[in-house]
Amino acid sequence: MKTVFDELLQQFQAYLRSVDNALVRDAVTRIGWDMPARPAEPHRLPCLAYLDRVAELAPPDAKPLARFLATHRNDLRWGQTYSAADFGAEFLTRYGWLEVFGTRGHFVNEEVAAGLLILGPDIVYPDHHHIAEEIYIPLTGGTEWRMGEGGFRQREAGEVIHHPSDVSHAMRTGSQPLLALYIWRGGPLAQKSTIPGTVAQGRS
Ligand SMILES: [Fe+2]
Repeated sequence: MKTVFDELLQQFQAYLRSVDNALVRDAVTRIGWDMPARPAEPHRLPCLAYLDRVAELAPPDAKPLARFLATHRNDLRWGQTYSAADFGAEFLTRYGWLEVFGTRGHFVNEEVAAGLLILGPDIVYPDHHHIAEEIYIPLTGGTEWRMGEGGFRQREAGEVIHHPSDVSHAMRTGSQPLLALYIWRGGPLAQKSTIPGTVAQGRS
């Protein structure tokens, strides 16, 4: 019988296969999609409240996935890596991620990790870096993204953003929440990010 997790993986893959981008195509091709499920209890977070707005904002190609997440949010295992000591208590009410597959997500994959990140409006996800290479596809627009020595630049839904290994990056949301798809590969997949100037660490 098909579970809600099977459907999650199917929707996730279907969206990724619709993305017309060489880097994404290469990543999708290398992923072994026949992954064993990993039992996981649901875990809910305050940021899940943004999923209704996210589902409205998502463009047509990302809407099925965004709607699926909104509908089934309470069945999924959402996570946070940072604590109030890292970016403050307010950040934690507007931040969370779902690992679809990887070393700890709903499906087992030791080579590649991928999932979805939620950020609420008007917050900054400060500079951080990690060994794994990261591909992001925002599924809602309006967020500003920064990488390396560059400045913040607004990115639209469907753009592909590539963070090479160990390059520092940050995000700053505007008046609307962000839903973004991420793929991590080529490094320790559950490694905690490094935040310059602190000993605090987190992921994605
Ligand atoms: Fe990252």
